[in-house]
This record gives sequence, structure tokens and C-alpha cells, in this order.
Amino acid sequence: MAKRGLDALGDLRGKRVFVRVDFNVPLRDGPRGPEVADDYRLEMALPTLRALRERGARLVLGSHLGRPKGKGPEPAWSMRPVVGRLEALLGAPVRFVDDVCGDAAKAASEALAPGEVLLLENLRFEKGEKDGDEGFARRLAALADAYVNDAFGVSHRGDASVTALARLLPAAAGELVRTELERLQPLRDGTAPRPLVVVLGGGKLADKIPVLEALVPKVDGIFVGGGMAYTFLAAMDKPIGRSRYEPDLREKAQQILELARERARTTGCEFVLPRDHVVARGPDDLDGYAVVEEIPDDLMALDIGPATIADFTRRLSGVKTVFWNGPLGMFEKKPFHLGTHYVASFLGCSRGIHTVVGGGDSAAAARELGVADTIGWVSTGGGASLELVQGLPLPGIDALPDA
Ligand code: 3PG
Repeated sequence: MAKRGLDALGDLRGKRVFVRVDFNVPLRDGPRGPEVADDYRLEMALPTLRALRERGARLVLGSHLGRPKGKGPEPAWSMRPVVGRLEALLGAPVRFVDDVCGDAAKAASEALAPGEVLLLENLRFEKGEKDGDEGFARRLAALADAYVNDAFGVSHRGDASVTALARLLPAAAGELVRTELERLQPLRDGTAPRPLVVVLGGGKLADKIPVLEALVPKVDGIFVGGGMAYTFLAAMDKPIGRSRYEPDLREKAQQILELARERARTTGCEFVLPRDHVVARGPDDLDGYAVVEEIPDDLMALDIGPATIADFTRRLSGVKTVFWNGPLGMFEKKPFHLGTHYVASFLGCSRGIHTVVGGGDSAAAARELGVADTIGWVSTGGGASLELVQGLPLPGIDALPDA
């Protein structure tokens, strides 16, 4: 799946390059209006933006933000708040046009000088984007001479700007997309250094079933924490008190446990669930929390306990590769962050372990804790990294020419 890189686009001096970026970033209220709350995706786009500017290209950046309905502008989802932060990171002015592919966008793209950068308004304001519409892609193609996909985080979608547009212009993968593929493909292909362990968490087992089914046969261990662990424990008839779980998935969880037992018999692959829990009456019960092995009827589990942290980290010693997706507890609420933070710190400090963090909340936790730089690779893709690791095709990657 090696894809053509920027070099394949040849001489870009004076050429307009449409760069599909994933600037779908969280916003917060700032003193002067909405501002970027987490700029990781902007930072990770810089190598491509810098490389194209150095080649004298004129950059037209397109992204989505949130999930507007495709019925025209919605102020809450404007790309405008991204401009200031991007300018600061890039160290260069970024022009903004509140248009996607109309006359104003065309005029703004034509007015760009070599090395200049223009950010378009939210692509999803146009219905054609989510529909993967060819006509809409043609209007975007009229803004540029070449196309670069650096939006790994949205490459699992069929949106027009990541699929149809790539077929209308000379196209290449950006630096971020190429690095994401380099880091994630060995996990999918089973060529990552062994032992290879998957640490999975997060609230919903429903989202992770396909990942578990794809990975149980391929890896040397699966350690499960977070809300999804309680569906497994319920399926094993363990007491889970008032912990949230998915009763409809009990049978599915039993099947996965059976698959894991079979793998354990034949290959020694470990399927490890929490052995103790931090429990409380609810996430706001900050006085009454406790650590237990058996969850009382009136309490709910909100984090893995210290014995589980010790168990996970002991088993991780000696492992060569870890794929981690999903927090191990309600990490956004102290003190229920400790399981996720201890495991993230352990992975960040373990020189011999190459960890790939699969986007989303676990990526935010790794960055918050300051271990993102030492941890191996923190993917910019949540859904995209999971789909790639499962072996599913990514339409935005498939649309790019092979190297
Ligand atoms: C993400 O944040 O996972 C990507 O930007 C994709 O967004 P989407 O799930 O709204 O398509």
C-alpha cells in the first residue's frame, strides 16, 4: 500500500496544490471567540505544508470540522477559528475564505502567490462532500493543479475531497499519510516485532467488536480495560454492580472469549481483563470511591484498580509492540484517570516497547501526560487507524496512486 509521495508531483513552482487536511479539531470558548483546544492535527500537518511551501507551491487547504448537515454555512462549524493557531504553528499568514468552491474560493485561490496558504470554509457545508459527489469534486478540482491527501483521519470515509477529487488531479500522499501508513501497516500485516499486544479500552464494546475479531487471531495478547471490560465480565457472570455494560452484546462477548480461549490453548495468546476496580456511586462521587476486587451491587466501576495496573504493566514487560486504543477508565475525571495515565506513562518510559496509539481519547491522554513524544507513534486517526489495523480498505488511501 505504498503511495506516491510529494516528489512524484514534479516541479510545483507556482502551481496551486489542493491539500486535504484533517483539521477536525476540538474547539473551546476563548476570550475572542472559539479557539482550538487541541492542535495535534494541525501540528502533524506541518511537514507537508512546509515541504510544499519550500517547493514554491500555492496552497489551498480543505478540511471538514464536525458533522454539519451539508445545508450551507453553520457558524458553529466554521473553519475560521483554526486560522490563528495554524498561522502561529506555520509561522506564516494563512488566508481564509468563507466559501468552499464558489466564485470567492476560486478568486482567492487564483490570488495566491507562491508559498502562500489559503484555508477554505468547512467542506461539509456542501452536501456533495459527504455524498462523495463527482460534480462537487470537479468544482474543488477547479481550485488547483495538483492534489495531496494528508488527511489520514478521514481517509476511511468516502467524502468527495478524499476520494473523487484524488482521481481528478495529479495526486499524491502527504507526509502525514505516508508516516501513518508506515506505522500502522505492520500491525495490520502481522509484521510488527513480536510479542505484539493490543490494549483496548473505551466505553463501547459495540465499536470494538470488529477490531477484536480481527486481532484476536493475529496477536500475542489482548488487555481490556475501560467500560467495555464490564460487558466481558458480565458475560463471565462476574458481579459488575451498576457498571455500564451492553446487555445485548453478552452473547457476542462470550463468542470472543471463546475465540480467545481457543487461541490461548493453541498459541498462548493472553486475553486479560481487570482484576480490581476503582468504584463509586457515580462519576461525581469524588468522596466515596474505593478499590475493590468484587464490585458491590450499588456501585459502578470507573477505572481499573492498582492490581490491574500492576498486572498489565508486568505482562507488558518484554513485549516488543503495543497497539493501544481507548482509555482504561473515565480518564477525563480525576481520580478515575489514574489507570490510563499509569499505563500511558509506563509505555512512554519503556524504551524496548514500540507503542502505536490509535487516535481519539487514548491519543489525547498520551499527549496530556506528555508521553506522546516518547511513545512511538500517536496516530491522528481514530476510526481510520482502527479500520486500517483491522485490514479494512480505506477509500481515501485506495484513491491515491501507488508508488
Ligand atoms: C475524525 O475525527 O475521526 C475524523 O476527522 C473523521 O470525522 P468523521 O467521523 O466525522 O467522519
